Amino acid sequence: MKGGYQKIVAFHFFLCYNRRVYYQERGIEKMGHNDDIEKLIQSQDLTKQPPEQEPERQYYFIKKCREIVKKKSEELGRPLYACSVCMGCQMNARDSEKLLGILTQIGYVPTDREEEADFVLYNTCTVRDNANQRVYGRLGFLNGLKKKKPHLKVALCGCMMQEESVIEKIQKSYRFVDLVFGTHNIFKLAQLLVTVFESGGMVIDIWEETDQIVEDLPVKRKYAYKSGVNIMFGCNNFCSYCIVPYVRGRERSRDPEEIVQEVRKLVADGVVEIMLLGQNVNSYGRNLDTPVTFAQLLKKVEQIEGLRRIRFMTSHPKDLSDELIEVMAGSNKICRHLHLPVQAGSDRILQAMNRRYTKEQYLALVDRIKKAMPDISITTDLIVGFPGETSEDVDETIDVVRRVGYDNAFTFIYSKRTGTPAAAMENQVPEAVVKEGFDKLLKVVQDTARERALRLKGQVMEALIEEVNEQDASLMTGRLSNNMLVHFPADGRKIGQFVTVSLDACHGFYYTGHIVS
Ligand code: SAH
Ligand code: SF4
Ligand code: F3S
Repeated sequence: MKGGYQKIVAFHFFLCYNRRVYYQERGIEKMGHNDDIEKLIQSQDLTKQPPEQEPERQYYFIKKCREIVKKKSEELGRPLYACSVCMGCQMNARDSEKLLGILTQIGYVPTDREEEADFVLYNTCTVRDNANQRVYGRLGFLNGLKKKKPHLKVALCGCMMQEESVIEKIQKSYRFVDLVFGTHNIFKLAQLLVTVFESGGMVIDIWEETDQIVEDLPVKRKYAYKSGVNIMFGCNNFCSYCIVPYVRGRERSRDPEEIVQEVRKLVADGVVEIMLLGQNVNSYGRNLDTPVTFAQLLKKVEQIEGLRRIRFMTSHPKDLSDELIEVMAGSNKICRHLHLPVQAGSDRILQAMNRRYTKEQYLALVDRIKKAMPDISITTDLIVGFPGETSEDVDETIDVVRRVGYDNAFTFIYSKRTGTPAAAMENQVPEAVVKEGFDKLLKVVQDTARERALRLKGQVMEALIEEVNEQDASLMTGRLSNNMLVHFPADGRKIGQFVTVSLDACHGFYYTGHIVS
């Protein structure tokens, strides 16, 4: 195993080195923005075979695809539109930005309206069954669209596509889909599109695993002032209810220097807040050639000038170190918010879930965090209805909610995911019992959150303006470091600016206030 791993590391080093030389030969000192990628795309020679190496191989296919899209657009006498829909978590959202980046480079104009699109891409989620049902529902709608507009291309990617049964169903019942790919090869979109245009049939490309991390592809960000940054991919935890390790593969950390470089680029591009993303950021860097802890990575990222706020997601309680607490407490850039999923409060259920901590260990960890940062907001994820869960077990979860005093908690009904250990457990809980426990828990969660929110009343805090208020255009919506939203009269301020606001009135889960400076 070790030998194999070293080989991969050596190979990665070789590729990184070669990439730098390749860029330098084309007048690029250090890979910067999309403009530099554009230079490399332009430099591709389509009369030759595509390069073997990534991402250059994709630059070649982007250029090739561009010619196809240009031709089609000339035939239609208008631009071609692409609609990229993200149906999953922050990690999927970041993938969608990369996919839209490629589509934009190819020449598609982004649109939010599926009806207007010539290319529709669904980036799917499969964490709970209702996510899958949503995809099938929308596919029916897309089939109708395609009948009206035969040149429309439909593509599906993301976590749900990593499931064999899903692929079988699409092949059988959704023949109109043009392209299906998974979570490991999103960087190949341009290459796959060329195949779609050239072949005409359904193209399916799913990889079971990968050790490849392809950097330096175009990205089209949703927000100008904030961005997600992947620090790792995959998950090794195998919580017994969860399908993510099966569809996202084994844990792989990105090189810290690549991460720092990416954040620098983002900051140079106007980003002031980043969210470091991984299924379990607390185990970041363990398997790197030179191991690095997540806390060490944070310290490096923190030094980047111009970066104002750092968030991260998600923290597994079993790996949250005292070193991390110390770094957070000593930082004025790391936000005062920690999402710390507990899932359940009963030790028996936690063990069956394979979470690898007890209720008391979790509570002790929360105590350490609160002691170091009394003003921190803690949020969590909760599951009700795990196999074998009784109403006494749910009471244990309620006890945790009360004792921690969560600022918010995402409460989910357990969903049976084929292939996970929990799906094979015999003692599945009847729906009516689950519903009862869920309602009881939800009430406590909401009451606790409302009570917690009150502690901020009258305080004056810094907010980052995120958007114009959806209901009232004279108001702006800002986010506090602790993740609370506040609405206030715009006073001439713009999205992406920091303001100091007074939190005047608490409305349960958000505040209204006014700008102080
Ligand atoms: N890696 C993150 C969460 C990923 S999934 C973590 O470990 O915290 C997001 C949330 O979905 C989980 O925290 C869990 O609460 C919920 N979830 C995962 N699988 C589920 C299932 N089978 N049924 C219901 N909820 C589930
Ligand atoms: Fe799923 Fe557990 Fe991994 Fe989170 S840590 S993605 S819940 S297996
Ligand atoms: Fe995220 Fe859903 Fe995949 S939660 S990792 S998009 S299964």
